[in-house]
Amino acid sequence: MDSTRIGSAQRKLRKSAVLGVLDRLARPLLRRVDPEDAHAFALRALRLAPLSRPQADDARLAVAAFGLTFPNPIGVAPGLDKNALVPDALLRLGFGFVEVGTVTPRPQPGNPRPRVFRLEADQAIINRLGFNSEGLDAARARLAARAGRGGIVGVNIGANKDSPDRGADYVALIAALAPVVSYFAVNVSSPNTPGLRDLQQRAMLDDLLARAIEARERAAAAAERKPVLLKIAPDLALADLDDVVAVARARAVDGMIVSNTTISRPAGLHDKDAAQAGGLSGRPLFRLSTRMLAETFVRAEGRFPLIGVGGIDSGAAAFAKIKAGASLVQVYTGLVYRGLDLVAAIKTDLGNFMRLARHDRLAEAVGRDAAAVTAEPWPT
Ligand SMILES: Cc1cc2nc3c(=O)[nH]c(=O)nc-3n(C[C@H](O)[C@H](O)[C@H](O)COP(=O)(O)O)c2cc1C
Repeated sequence: MDSTRIGSAQRKLRKSAVLGVLDRLARPLLRRVDPEDAHAFALRALRLAPLSRPQADDARLAVAAFGLTFPNPIGVAPGLDKNALVPDALLRLGFGFVEVGTVTPRPQPGNPRPRVFRLEADQAIINRLGFNSEGLDAARARLAARAGRGGIVGVNIGANKDSPDRGADYVALIAALAPVVSYFAVNVSSPNTPGLRDLQQRAMLDDLLARAIEARERAAAAAERKPVLLKIAPDLALADLDDVVAVARARAVDGMIVSNTTISRPAGLHDKDAAQAGGLSGRPLFRLSTRMLAETFVRAEGRFPLIGVGGIDSGAAAFAKIKAGASLVQVYTGLVYRGLDLVAAIKTDLGNFMRLARHDRLAEAVGRDAAAVTAEPWPT
């Protein structure tokens, strides 16, 4: 290696070490302040952190899905970067993709604070943010400014709380953002916008997806054809999931994301804030969201790939999602408790699991345990 390359390798090492130290020092401090203030601080730090390009991923971790090639299967779940402030910093931390949002057409403040609660004792979060969003124009300007930089950046889209025609909101978002994003996630599963989850009902979902796909096709005349994915709640009854997957198949969506936060409260929560209203995420969501993922996988019958999300906080949890049916995974709450080291830890573990299972590609593991997971007793 010549001296310039050694110098650049050392600089990269120093920068990642600085970030690691910042991450380790800041997390205990940040745990003592209000979760939303801590979150705003973390986003500011990410904007300023001197991040260099990450090491190339092990080629065996690459995933082809929805017509895109992901360098690794670990994505940032939406909610972490609602307004597209730091997608490139997140990509540089080693994520295979970033989903920004939820973005609504018009800016809206969301619910009154406090509206995010850390359940430390349960390694969980309850949030009732209610789609606080700077709105479409702000997100589009930021995404347009970074559009040439590469990396997979999708956007999660949602309707304004007071919208008279929610379908029209999704259509407007798709039309405006198609040129500047890699994919769309149609969010009909946030528990914090009254009535939003009704869009998962058969007739309403069919109408919504028809309009979303039509908007995507219209936008494809000017930009490339962008994949449209559907993100669902983990609280659907299985009969409703039958309908949702049937409609998603009939409308030929490109994939589904399972799942959003749960309004249920699994048995065994200890934290004093466990009874707060809102959606629960993190470790206690793992079993329910993984069960719904497997149930979706068996119903999709290979028609489209799935993204598994909910309670991933280790390589083993990520691999379990993949075996339950996920081609890709996303994390949010696990990052709050495990820190940014989680990404590298999951990658290392996935590589080891693949070696043990003698898989050359992750795709070989996808859905292997789905039938077995659906045969387990229902998670309580
Ligand atoms: C504070 C917070 C805000 C969130 N905001 C959104 C959002 O705007 N849109 C969305 O689709 N999901 C949102 N989510 C849900 C996550 O994307 C994810 O589906 C869920 O948290 C489960 O993953 P996890 O257990 O890894 O956190 C949010 C989650 C949290 C904790």
